[in-house]
Amino acid sequence: MEIIQYEKTYKILKNNCIVFGIYEDENYFSIFHKINKYITYDIKNILKINDWKKNFGKIILLYTDLKSKYNRVILINCGNKNKFCRNSFFSIIKKIFILCQENSIEYIYINISDFQYYKKNIYWKIRNIIDSYTEVFYLFNKYKTEIKKYIFVKKIFIKINIKKHLLDFKKAVFHGLSISKGIKLTKDISNTPSNICTPKYLVKKSHKIFKKYKKNVEVKIFNQEDIKQLGMNAFLTVAQGSSQKAYMSIMYYKNKDAINHRPFVLIGKGVTFDSGGISIKSSYLMDEMKYDMCGAASVIGIMKFLAELNLPLNVIGIIGTCENMINGNSYKPGDIISTMSKKTIEILNTDAEGRLILCDILTYVERFNPKIVIDIATLTGSCVATLGNAASGLFSNNKNLAKKIKKASKNINDKVWNLPKFKVYKKYLQSNVADLSNIGEKYAGASTASYFLSYFAKKYKWLHLDIAGTAWNSGKKKSATGKPVTLICQYFLNILKKYKKL
Ligand code: BES
Ligand code: MN
Ligand code: ZN
Repeated sequence: MEIIQYEKTYKILKNNCIVFGIYEDENYFSIFHKINKYITYDIKNILKINDWKKNFGKIILLYTDLKSKYNRVILINCGNKNKFCRNSFFSIIKKIFILCQENSIEYIYINISDFQYYKKNIYWKIRNIIDSYTEVFYLFNKYKTEIKKYIFVKKIFIKINIKKHLLDFKKAVFHGLSISKGIKLTKDISNTPSNICTPKYLVKKSHKIFKKYKKNVEVKIFNQEDIKQLGMNAFLTVAQGSSQKAYMSIMYYKNKDAINHRPFVLIGKGVTFDSGGISIKSSYLMDEMKYDMCGAASVIGIMKFLAELNLPLNVIGIIGTCENMINGNSYKPGDIISTMSKKTIEILNTDAEGRLILCDILTYVERFNPKIVIDIATLTGSCVATLGNAASGLFSNNKNLAKKIKKASKNINDKVWNLPKFKVYKKYLQSNVADLSNIGEKYAGASTASYFLSYFAKKYKWLHLDIAGTAWNSGKKKSATGKPVTLICQYFLNILKKYKKL
């Protein structure tokens, strides 16, 4: 997709549409005035039969006659001016894209000044247009033998009336499209099922993707034997019930102009299938446990974004990947295991496996003397129960870092919500035979899981994102969302902006 600043002199491409954003209280006359160049219908009547008043998001597609340079006109109801915010803008743009998709429209012409009541500058408008495009125009049909022909929107022409906005426009396109590439990669990996996307496949992918960025990215792969040598026993315990071996991949992103010496570290949970182990899951929606590696997929996507933009940062991305399966070697409830940190853990539920993988990696990354560490994991069903798909659960041992991540989520469609950190969770995790148990009590599962992790992240500033509810859409619309790629990319962009490097 291309997003282009539209000039009058441009040749208009066929199979197009022109969009008009219209506010609720605009009168028929002013609407007529806007569009009468293109269509000659009785607009008053069209709006009337389409129940236009007080109908935010109402969208009408009109056909022009053969002589017109635009083939179709889209009218979209933007609702009340005073209530028009980022959310409304995002959903309006999304509706336009969906309509274009349904009607196989290839070129869209938008006058950005129609959306002046979303008070953010051009940068955020363009970024939100690209985010919305990335959400709508995604297909995962690699495994279909009969492929329906889809026509994607190829170019979006934006009319900008103020010349000095041009630089911000270009910047937004550059940032937005790079994030979009990261998201596409994350979605493609996430949607790949576990018979294909095995732990080995995942780490190989993490290697292959960065071959073309050799100058900035170096990837090291650790096999099961290497992981054993490192003493990551909790991680290996999860893997022992599967015929697929465990792997770890470390992606070093370096830049000669980096603003930081101590690296930013990202960790992704990469369970390619989570059956629950001996504490087996119920069958309902169990297929979706192929998504239990979305954390790892998002770390790969974020690293791709950094490489695409060649950002002046040092970042290390790590994925720990294995299957949680059942065989004669599986770990069992009641087992007591050791960890890389030497703390012992009593296993009370083999389905709480993500934290066992992560706790060892959290210990491992101490050696990098990290500036900050962020782990990304589809960690708990409890987080889905608490926040649904509205936000990822956030947990941190550092207020400032949490503040920065919250700030990054402000202008984008990738939200977070603080999970509570009550002292009683400590009691929940007590074991009478080991240092910790791997589950808490019946409730507050998202918080206790985070609390568990915090024991292993004492030596640095750390933040945990539970993406169990946000990483994919469930049920019939089953598909990865690419969250929280935008969020973390934005966090990095904000840092560089502060350093005046953007
Ligand atoms: N991968 C799951 C979390 C999950 C469940 C994500 C459903 C998305 C949807 C994780 O490994 C898990 O099974 N967690 C358990 C923990 C429990 C046993 C304490 C859970 O949340 O049920
Ligand atoms: Mn599990
Ligand atoms: Zn899991």
